[in-house]
Amino acid sequence: MDSILVRGGGALNGVIPIAGAKNACLTLMPATLLTTEPLTLTNAPRLSDILTMTQLLGSLGAEVASLQGGQVLAMSSHDIHNHTADYDIVRKMRASILVLGPMLARDGHAIVSLPGGCAIGARPVDLHLRALEAMGADLDLRDGYVHAKAPGGRLKGAVVEFPFVSVGATENALLAATLAKGTTVLKNAAREPEIVDLAQCLQRMGAQIDGIGTSTLTIQGVDRLGGATHPVVTDRIELGTYMLAPAICGGEVELLGGRMDLVGAFCEKLDEAGVSVEETPRGLKVKRRGDRVKAVNVVTEPFPGFPTDLQAQMMALLCTADGVSVLEERIFENRFMHAPELLRMGAKIDVHGGTATVTGVQKLKGARVMATDLRASISLILAGLAAEGETVVSRVYHLDRGYERVEEKLGACGAHIERIAS
Ligand code: UD1
Repeated sequence: MDSILVRGGGALNGVIPIAGAKNACLTLMPATLLTTEPLTLTNAPRLSDILTMTQLLGSLGAEVASLQGGQVLAMSSHDIHNHTADYDIVRKMRASILVLGPMLARDGHAIVSLPGGCAIGARPVDLHLRALEAMGADLDLRDGYVHAKAPGGRLKGAVVEFPFVSVGATENALLAATLAKGTTVLKNAAREPEIVDLAQCLQRMGAQIDGIGTSTLTIQGVDRLGGATHPVVTDRIELGTYMLAPAICGGEVELLGGRMDLVGAFCEKLDEAGVSVEETPRGLKVKRRGDRVKAVNVVTEPFPGFPTDLQAQMMALLCTADGVSVLEERIFENRFMHAPELLRMGAKIDVHGGTATVTGVQKLKGARVMATDLRASISLILAGLAAEGETVVSRVYHLDRGYERVEEKLGACGAHIERIAS
């Protein structure tokens, strides 16, 4: 297993291009199952999670050609001959459950393995299943698989009110509703930019969707969808992560493709902490105003609130802030696993349930640490960049799921970072 070695201390200056969003791409790819015509995604990120989705779609009979070094995904689902998403692929990545809605909508039947737990919490898929049931699906949970059938071969429109906001459940229901008979109303739907991106792609394919970007989506089912070409939206989590690099290390970094509307709540917190974000013709430019940031309190919430996927990285920043910060994690029940690793680097953090209290220290110190999930792994790299001495982050396969060319992107701004092959 590869590790990442970071030598901390220096300021970062330069330009970082931001890729297309992993989480948007993972929900856009299953949309290919809704049509027999080609669906092409541009601005796709080059990540192992995308390869896993490629493998899953391939196992069902879809063709996915990775062009231009992976930035273009040309997909065709002309011949879907297998309707079973196997445990061996699904267990690698929770987003695999997103093939359920489209397969069911297209052919009236699907068998998909349940994803199981994951490092950051139990993460059930009950809301996905309840939404599909409301649309008429017969579901049977057997041997770890969901066996789903649409009576008469077609889902029907329904009013679905989610008891709380779920990104994945909204996506699965939206994908399925496009081909259902009649009108579907999704209430308390997630409003994340990745969902807006999915809805816009589906519109390009001929879907009838109203209320895009709001918490009520109304979908008028159509008989068929066609092909389309769609650019994947900018990755707001990669954007936010690299915005934190100059905030932690000092210096000034411009994030190409960055958009304020994707990271509004996050920028407010940066501003409060003493970090300036300026719009440029090419993206966003970030600079820390003083020598040290100020402590701030953070509560994670569904979009447009502060994203849970930036909580670990924000904690890395606040470890060296002046004062005491309180971070409250409201989306996932077990998402502070980076805290014990940051403690190894000299941070002062107390975790009680879903709340972490961080008392800023003057300097972190390099150490050997271990990544436990995707966002935790990049938070340790950010902390390492600000620490005195060397930090070695092991288990970086998590990192490769969600960040492309990390060493290159940070290295281009002057970071001392290298990959050590196992
Ligand atoms: C997506 C993102 C993930 C992000 C999360 C929240 C992808 C591939 N992943 O995950 O990076 O951290 O949104 O912004 O897009 N829940 C249930 N039952 C369900 C579904 C969810 O109880 O059927 C719970 C989850 O355990 C969690 C909360 O609802 O506590 C929110 O999860 P959800 O928004 O569904 O996250 P994902 O779609 O899995």
